[in-house]
Amino acid sequence: MARQQLILIADPDSDFLEWTTHQLSSAKTRVITTSDSEEAYRIFMREKPDVLMAETHLSPFGGMELLGRIRQRSPNSIVVLTSAFGTTQSVIESMRLGAFDFVRKESLPFSLKAVMDAALRAQAEMRAATSAKPQLTVDEHQDSLVGKSEAMAQVFKMVGRVSMSDAPVMITGESGSGKELVARAVHNYSQRANKSFVAINCAAIPEQLLESELFGHEKGAFTGAIGQRAGRFEQCHGGTLFLDEIGDMPLQLQSKILRVLQEGEYSRVGGATTLKSDVRIVAATNKNLEQEVAEKKFREDLFYRLNVVRIQLPPLRQRLEDVRLLAEYFLNKVATRQRLPRLKISEDAIKVLEGHNWPGNVRELENTIQRACVFATSDVLLPKDIPIGAVSGGSEPNDLRGCGMPTVVSKEMAIESLIKAAEADSSMQLLPWLEREFTLHAMRATGGNQVRAAKLLGITRATLRKRLEIFGITREMNIS
Ligand SMILES: Nc1ncnc2c1ncn2[C@@H]1O[C@H](COP(=O)(O)OP(=O)(O)OP(=O)(O)O)[C@@H](O)[C@H]1O
Ligand SMILES: [Mg+2]
Repeated sequence: MARQQLILIADPDSDFLEWTTHQLSSAKTRVITTSDSEEAYRIFMREKPDVLMAETHLSPFGGMELLGRIRQRSPNSIVVLTSAFGTTQSVIESMRLGAFDFVRKESLPFSLKAVMDAALRAQAEMRAATSAKPQLTVDEHQDSLVGKSEAMAQVFKMVGRVSMSDAPVMITGESGSGKELVARAVHNYSQRANKSFVAINCAAIPEQLLESELFGHEKGAFTGAIGQRAGRFEQCHGGTLFLDEIGDMPLQLQSKILRVLQEGEYSRVGGATTLKSDVRIVAATNKNLEQEVAEKKFREDLFYRLNVVRIQLPPLRQRLEDVRLLAEYFLNKVATRQRLPRLKISEDAIKVLEGHNWPGNVRELENTIQRACVFATSDVLLPKDIPIGAVSGGSEPNDLRGCGMPTVVSKEMAIESLIKAAEADSSMQLLPWLEREFTLHAMRATGGNQVRAAKLLGITRATLRKRLEIFGITREMNIS
């Protein structure tokens, strides 16, 4: 027989305890109850129930404190808080402390079973994920190209095929689909691998500077050209030059690139000397170059020169079978790079990821995983941690007394509700709260290491310090 599930319920009301025991007990599920928070803590530590459901108004200490104590000792516990009131503040605070759910008692007659099912399921997922072995290792310094879909297999084959030649390669695909990573792979697998790979973004550099960036300039070639300077072609002699966003290259420069491709020659800006180029060109764009050619915005002859080998990267939504592998890979990447413990991911969370259509492609998935790691309240990412609008389903939507918010079933939903509430009431200070939440999570996730927390948040250490001071987090972290 399957293992019996165990639920612990702590509530001051003996009628409530009797009712829930009756509702939830079955051959599969055993229920233990208590009306005392100290005893609840002892039982929890001894019996390790799958789920604890606790009232906020317990004594000698409240449900919130019980939650805090338990999660400090055992951070993967699933705790559902219940309350007759459910003020905005208590909802936020309980989510901050890592409650799985916060349910208003009034709604329990309708939602008890659904809430408990969701909580038990999360616990089962957590157990399954914790016992699974992580695959894939991550090179700390180098990104790998990950994928197992047929579409990506074609891409890998192309990278292999062009490795022995010096032919120009054109990579096309939507933003975030991995064009730069593929360009690096073309270089890394080629005979030029031990020479430099130099990338230049044609869209990011003003037209007047781009030519000198690419080809260099002689002293006095233009105002400000104080000395002679080598361009990217010279810098990566023998290596690979990645011309990113080539679709944005001005027409006049396109002809100079054509010259390099045809004759292997170029000159510095303002210089008469002809220099020989030994550079393999890999270009990328998310524009439709055929159309640009038709509209005379891109030179047709250059297009054919560059388009000798074309690698077309499919958008992520057309290869959803890669999502799981990529998610696992990014979890490893976050852990390795930030020197954090490696989180696991539940099957339901994978399903949420596989159900999204990823307009921002792999970059969006990577960002989602990074943010989820900051949000996570346990060692396993659950659907509630995935910041793409997914919620751990179950309870009936009900208004929380006084603040017009729906019953909160996840931290994401708490944030979403707050955003809605803030939109309705402009006096509500939402952004500072969110900022404080992120800062606190990052500090917790890094064990209070400011350098790593700042990195995780993408801010400087000085900004982090300022935030810690303004939000009083330093004090709070010292106490707990
Ligand atoms: N197949 C993949 N395996 C692992 N990581 C990937 C893969 N594809 C993309 N990434 C990661 O996703 C992010 C975006 O990829 P990349 O910068 O190569 O996209 P791009 O197509 O050049 O985007 P843009 O058009 O916006 O410049 C990078 O962090 C990259 O490492
Ligand atoms: Mg790019």
